[in-house]
Amino acid sequence: MEIIEKAPAKINLGLDAIRKREDGYHDLEMIMASVDLSDYVSVRGISEKKVVLTTDSNFLPTDKRNHAYQAAILLMKRFDVKTGVEIHIQKNIPVSAGLAGGSSDCAATLRALNKLWNLELSQAQLAEIGAEIGSDVPYCIYGNTAFVTGRGEFVEKIEDMPSCYIIMVKPKMSVSTGSVFKALDTSSAFHPNIFLIKQAVEEKNYPKMIEHMGNTLESVTIDRYPEIEQIKKAMKKFGADVSLMSGSGPTVFCLVKKENRAKRIYNALKGFNDEVYITRPLKAKK
Ligand code: C5P
Repeated sequence: MEIIEKAPAKINLGLDAIRKREDGYHDLEMIMASVDLSDYVSVRGISEKKVVLTTDSNFLPTDKRNHAYQAAILLMKRFDVKTGVEIHIQKNIPVSAGLAGGSSDCAATLRALNKLWNLELSQAQLAEIGAEIGSDVPYCIYGNTAFVTGRGEFVEKIEDMPSCYIIMVKPKMSVSTGSVFKALDTSSAFHPNIFLIKQAVEEKNYPKMIEHMGNTLESVTIDRYPEIEQIKKAMKKFGADVSLMSGSGPTVFCLVKKENRAKRIYNALKGFNDEVYITRPLKAKK
């Protein structure tokens, strides 16, 4: 039996790193939203007790450095599964980009194996297991638009973000999340008002949402890679309503309401960037 799970990318409409904790992590407040750009994770049971991971991407490790692989090993050990699994990741989301591609693949693997091995774990249980692997995995178990706090383990589903077009640019470099957090000084950093972004999303108030969107980590990554600022400015110049870095970067995205303007921005950005995507928010299944 083969099970296929969709693993969508996310953007941060807001990211506030409030303080550094004693365990080295940061207390966060985030508004995350899934977008219609997805990897696909397929799992197939095998009789031998082992995990075999393959992918069509040249950029992914296929051993224990991969979070999807870690997820399979963790479930296998914890629930004493006697058989094995072949996992295949069809990669469409850019890697090390601030779009949670690796975390989303991990979450999709947990969902798929929950079915394959009849573990009957709830979403909350899967999210708790996912948190052992990475801070963004609990959110990725739920997906769609959510208010996320703590280290990333507290996930509250909220209304879908307002309908719009999303254009994303992935600059060439890869960014390590850990190194960005390490360079962050929360006492002098910019702190967006996450409460107002959340309120705007729940009111479906697009102008209010774009007015308050912000990311504490943006200036840290921009200090290292000034081209991020240039892409942000270009997006605005071409007519975007708002532009922002996602997560710890380096992907920059912009939002726009009108389709013809979105296509114009996409084409203009394509002129001087290799990796440009045009997509839409993913709607929650009612
Ligand atoms: O949990 P994850 O492995 O995805 O996090 C990568 C790194 O990002 C951590 O090692 C930590 O340095 C940083 N981080 C943080 N606070 C968080 C989440 C991640 O400082 N809430």
